[in-house]
Amino acid sequence: MADELKSQVAELRVDGQVVALPVLEDTAGFRAVDIRGLWKDARVYTYDPGFGCTVSCQSAISHVDGEKGQLLYRGYPVEVLTEHCTFVEVAYLLIHGTLPTHAQSEKFSALFNRHSMIHEDMRTFFRRYPERAHPMAVLSAMVVSLSSFYPEVEQTDEDIDIAATRLLSKLRTIAAFSYKKSIGEPVSQPSYKLSYCANFLNMMFSSPVTDYQIDPVLVRAMNQLLILHADHGQNCSTSTVRLVGSSGANLYASVCAGICALWGPLHGGANQEVIEMLKTIQREGGHVDKAIAQAKDKTNPRRLMGFGHRIYKTFDPRAGIVKKICTEVLARTGTRDPLLDIAMELEGKALADPYFIERKLYPNVDFYTGIAYRAMGFPSDMFTVLFALGRLPGWIAQWQELRRDPHQRIGRPMQLYTGPMNPAFVPIEKRP
Ligand code: ACO
Repeated sequence: MADELKSQVAELRVDGQVVALPVLEDTAGFRAVDIRGLWKDARVYTYDPGFGCTVSCQSAISHVDGEKGQLLYRGYPVEVLTEHCTFVEVAYLLIHGTLPTHAQSEKFSALFNRHSMIHEDMRTFFRRYPERAHPMAVLSAMVVSLSSFYPEVEQTDEDIDIAATRLLSKLRTIAAFSYKKSIGEPVSQPSYKLSYCANFLNMMFSSPVTDYQIDPVLVRAMNQLLILHADHGQNCSTSTVRLVGSSGANLYASVCAGICALWGPLHGGANQEVIEMLKTIQREGGHVDKAIAQAKDKTNPRRLMGFGHRIYKTFDPRAGIVKKICTEVLARTGTRDPLLDIAMELEGKALADPYFIERKLYPNVDFYTGIAYRAMGFPSDMFTVLFALGRLPGWIAQWQELRRDPHQRIGRPMQLYTGPMNPAFVPIEKRP
């Protein structure tokens, strides 16, 4: 729990009355004024659209320092985990709080295998979606449908472990199946002989008529990319998972809501938007200046996709790692992607532009991921699905933490009402 700083009290003067508010400090040294008693003591609320200054919970899962450009999972720098761990180990770390021992890792992986198939009846759902259905629409609907196939209420740690591994394992299968459906190919089943990421690549790209060789370099890249997305504090989709979960909704329903929140172009959907933006630049002759000018023009809604972040006011630590993965994947696949050249030119020019410098806008995790995914063979509408796959352990861990948090109440922000007060009521027969 965050410590109450006995030496510090914030004072707020309202209507001549001074209200003393406790100051809390977290383990990283960030402070927050505890306003829980404010309405009761001073009859005022706080106003913070976008929650940029609002702490909604205490959490021991991940820590983001936007000034230092630091991201920690359970205290470990993301750089260390990306270098030395598999995605499944990191999922265990986020969900259980510690890195797994060999025995724990084996048990966890065995649960992944056991739950990797999806119910035969659910497979028929895929046939009913239109051919051009966005895979995020399919993914979210399939995840909430899991609650009808597995309606048990998660109570004990063992139940939660099963629900968590079931969801992690099946999401991968659902993601690959929805891709196969979109290209009209038969699905490839998961195999108990393959690791999590090798299995996923195999389900995505093997077919009865191709001899798909699982490349260990791409498996490592996939592990690293998923790890980089695994958790990130109280971002939009995670807060959505928590808000939905705070009403007592089950894990599948809460995660489904998180997937929908992630889909938006200002959040996880940005990785697809970056590629669309780079393709537009390429189509229009490769001139990055126009895209930069449009992003700076306040009358134009276009932004520089993959740039800027609510928290990071310096380089997003994930972006640098993704850039490195990207060059490794391109080298391995022998791909020469002109979009990478455009992205690098765009990055260089934006970083030197006073508009971006003044606002501290740097490339975020989404800026280079699409180029790596393209080289691996993923179509652009699967990019946000890959983000969801990576973010899932974080959502599960956050949902679980919420369930165990004694301070947690149903999420219910207040508002400042700006509508009319008691307008004269006119019966329908007298209205024009
Ligand atoms: N291009 C151009 N201008 C930008 C950009 C951008 N990408 N991002 C922020 N700005 C400008 C804003 O217009 C604003 O300018 P102003 O002060 O003159 O009004 C200023 O920078 C501050 O931006 P806000 O919108 O207040 O920042 P906020 O924290 O609310 O938004 C966000 C963060 C949504 C990520 C924003 O930077 C953005 O839209 N980026 C592009 C989309 C994107 O890449 N999203 C992925 C984020 S990472 C993730 O979710 C995994």
